[in-house]
Amino acid sequence: MQHPAMPKNIAAAAILAAAMASAAASLAPQARAEGNASKEPMELRRIMQELGRNMQAAADGISREEWVRVAEIAPRIAEHPQPPLGEKKRLLGFVGSEAGRFRRFDQQTHQAAKSLEQAARRGDGEAVIAAFASVQNACLACHQSFRKPFLEHFYGQR
Ligand code: HEC
Repeated sequence: MQHPAMPKNIAAAAILAAAMASAAASLAPQARAEGNASKEPMELRRIMQELGRNMQAAADGISREEWVRVAEIAPRIAEHPQPPLGEKKRLLGFVGSEAGRFRRFDQQTHQAAKSLEQAARRGDGEAVIAAFASVQNACLACHQSFRKPFLEHFYGQR
């Protein structure tokens, strides 16, 4: 007899359809994430994580008043690596008319980190701390403008 089995199959088909629909829904943001559908971390994230570690190391050096160490770390922040050309194009393509602002935040970070290095070389603790705060403010300013839109665009995060 086939009939008793039928309702079961229909129920199974309905469950499968529902599962597929929800899978499709969860894929939607991924599909929207332009040029990065795999959500593989982009090079920019690795660079940012390194900046984060260097800022932590600099803060630690400041706490210990180890100015030589701070002077060694600061250039790693100022001259942080850049994403490869292809990724850079995608980044600038995304920021579009805001590219100027995006670049300025990066330059501010660079300049503040340079001041940090010079102050540390002089062993001028107060100037080191002021420059460190300027670096951190430049990080913050860029994040406030670009981080969320960036994550939404490239990683489909809402
Ligand atoms: C010109 C813009 C800009 C500047 C300047 C900038 N960032 Fe970022 N940062 C971003 C963007 C965009 C993201 C999101 C990228 C991502 O998560 O893939 C980000 C993400 C991060 C993250 C999170 C990474 C993760 O694993 O989720 C850290 C940490 C970070 N930045 C540290 C810093 C520090 C420290 C500085 C300053 C020394 C800095 N950033 C300066 C644009 C900037």
